[in-house]
Amino acid sequence: MKFLIKTYGCQMNERDSESVAALLLAHGHEAASLETEADVIIVNTCSVRAKAEHKALGKLGLLVAGKREFPGRRVGVMGCMAQRMKEAAFRKVPGLDFAVGTHRLANVPGILERVMKNGGPVLDAGEGEEQWEALAGHVATGSGVSRFVNILFGCSRRCSYCVVPAVRGEEWSRPAAAVMAEVKRLADSGVREITLLGQSVMSYGRAQAVWADGPVSRRGFQEPFARLLEAVNDVEGIRRIRFTSGHPSGCTDELARAMKELPAVCEHLHLPLQSGSDRILGLMRRGYAADDYRRAVERLRAAVPGMAFTTDIIVGFPTETADDFEKTRQLMEEIRFDNAFVFKYSPRPGTPAAEWSDDVPADEKARRNQVLLADLDRRAMVRHQALIGREVEVLVEGTSLRNESRWAGKTRTNMTAVFEPVDGLAPGALVRIRLTRATPQTFYGDIIL
Ligand code: 5AD
Ligand code: SF4
Repeated sequence: MKFLIKTYGCQMNERDSESVAALLLAHGHEAASLETEADVIIVNTCSVRAKAEHKALGKLGLLVAGKREFPGRRVGVMGCMAQRMKEAAFRKVPGLDFAVGTHRLANVPGILERVMKNGGPVLDAGEGEEQWEALAGHVATGSGVSRFVNILFGCSRRCSYCVVPAVRGEEWSRPAAAVMAEVKRLADSGVREITLLGQSVMSYGRAQAVWADGPVSRRGFQEPFARLLEAVNDVEGIRRIRFTSGHPSGCTDELARAMKELPAVCEHLHLPLQSGSDRILGLMRRGYAADDYRRAVERLRAAVPGMAFTTDIIVGFPTETADDFEKTRQLMEEIRFDNAFVFKYSPRPGTPAAEWSDDVPADEKARRNQVLLADLDRRAMVRHQALIGREVEVLVEGTSLRNESRWAGKTRTNMTAVFEPVDGLAPGALVRIRLTRATPQTFYGDIIL
């Protein structure tokens, strides 16, 4: 049987799609590269904003309608939206064959067997049983240089706007031995960069014991997350480590020391701010004030000069005034973010904030969004121009998406860099590049031989 998985949403979803694909390949199925070739098409979905759900529902509707042309085709939904909607998914997409929630992904092969034989609908969106070790597989795709590894599942923070705790469950840390076994397998297969994944990823090991051995590591780290960074750093072949997403409460002195002393840990952190107004942060139940966020950034920058920060911002949260928005704008200016994802607030059913009036008009949300994006572009342009002529280290990924004759890779600060290849260059190589040109999103330069 040939399958195709279409993924919406965050990096956890990308990782989940890969896990399910690896499991299906292990069951003897084949990956299709075109929808028209696939016997089964699965849409992996995100519920974080209404727009993300509408997009997935639209896609599912088209795929189901396509069954007229491809009568044997089966169509399913997996991930956050399946978990949130449960039976309702079949009402919203008549003709949908199956829906598999976030806690049940390891059951996908069995469910496919059932629906291939008997058709749908089949719903599997319960909770409880943890299946993550069945989902530790990876697929050789792309350049094979960089891989995601899950370390923390779910989220127990309960920010007032966020659907994640409802769709991904309580925070749960994977045992370090399992994480390390996966990292070592990847390193042996040629992977050079590992991104450790979790919501509030530095909370790793705070709610459960994850290390079986003594209380401190070789370099004297005690916090479970810093210990994990050290262990991954020490794996032969791993040249770079990233982790996402951060939370200010995780930016401890020990994390700062780990980022400074462990050479593989990159000088970049995605640290969602959401708002620069203390009043809005309070309503969001983020668990920090603007000053706490400032201090977290200062602590890391003091240890790691030149560290890049990227962030998430929500504009138009209930009751957000022009003054609250101005505070966000000012704090973003002050922190000098390297990049940001800006989202217009979207009420999510079942969250506390959805009970409040969504009182910032849509056009005002759009305006605030545009203002922040323009600020970011302007600042990035200035900062990047100042880097022209400088050298940066790039992990080579392969040919550039836009232009096959050029190659691309990432800097340690997570910027894309594009350059002319040289003879013998292979994905996974670390090269130094002198920057000749820059846009807000991309660096261009020449390899220094
Ligand atoms: N509306 C808009 N943006 C949201 N996010 C999470 N929930 C919502 C919501 N209800 C954003 C946050 C988070 C990112 C993944 O999505 O900025 O960090
Ligand atoms: Fe949502 Fe907050 Fe958890 Fe992030 S930390 S997923 S914003 S509840």
